[in-house]
Amino acid sequence: MTRKIIIANWKMSVNRADTTRLTRAAGVALGKCGGQADVILVSPYVYLTHVSAILPPGVILAAQDVAVPHHPKGAQTGDVSPEMLRDTGCTAVIIGHSERRSGHGETDDTVRAKVAAACAAGLTVILCVGETADQRAAGQGRNVVSGQIHAALFDQPNIRPDSVMVAYEPVWAISGGGGQTAALEDIGSIHQFLANYIETTLAPLRGMRLLYGGSVRPDNASVILSLPYVDGVLVGGASLDADALSEIIRAGCAASRP
Ligand code: PGA
Repeated sequence: MTRKIIIANWKMSVNRADTTRLTRAAGVALGKCGGQADVILVSPYVYLTHVSAILPPGVILAAQDVAVPHHPKGAQTGDVSPEMLRDTGCTAVIIGHSERRSGHGETDDTVRAKVAAACAAGLTVILCVGETADQRAAGQGRNVVSGQIHAALFDQPNIRPDSVMVAYEPVWAISGGGGQTAALEDIGSIHQFLANYIETTLAPLRGMRLLYGGSVRPDNASVILSLPYVDGVLVGGASLDADALSEIIRAGCAASRP
């Protein structure tokens, strides 16, 4: 069965009550469609334990970032290690989101180190990549994105195709970063390019899943999920509305094939 992946990235936009409401809604929506898609809820650190305690069957819990521990535990004030994430019930983590790269100066080297730390701890990595509007205008989009993937994943120990997925999120299409609508042909062609790039350059990761993110909403989720080489969607803004999230989960189930 090809199962589509629906990821809800709540960013810094929720309080505890919101996480309760959205987690329950996700569980109901997934249950109603027979659990046919993979649903991953990406909570702020402070609510991970809470969401973990009410996590519906079949729903996966993820964090929005992780630190690289210098020692298994110790003096890193403010940091959260991969082991701590696992301890809260997390089994996955977003790494390299454009809001971390641009807002916190995360470089390709930082991202690579985080991927290594997360994989070593057994967490599934959701690696975010994407070009800015300027890079796109300069015709650099594909180079930037394949370069980010290569920098993060090439020759990484402890990494398997099922322990990492790539979310292609053009920065100009993310609702907080431009919110322009990406044309379906553009999404399709870059996903095909990335699938081919992985096949030829990162052969050990052949079969790794490729997701799309950037202003995914109930009205465009089905068609995006039906594109070849699109294994799922990473949803920010629309995942904050229980009805919209439920509808996107239904679209994910409908697009999953036996
Ligand atoms: P968006 O965010 O759906 O609000 O555009 C996607 C993301 O940044 O992960």
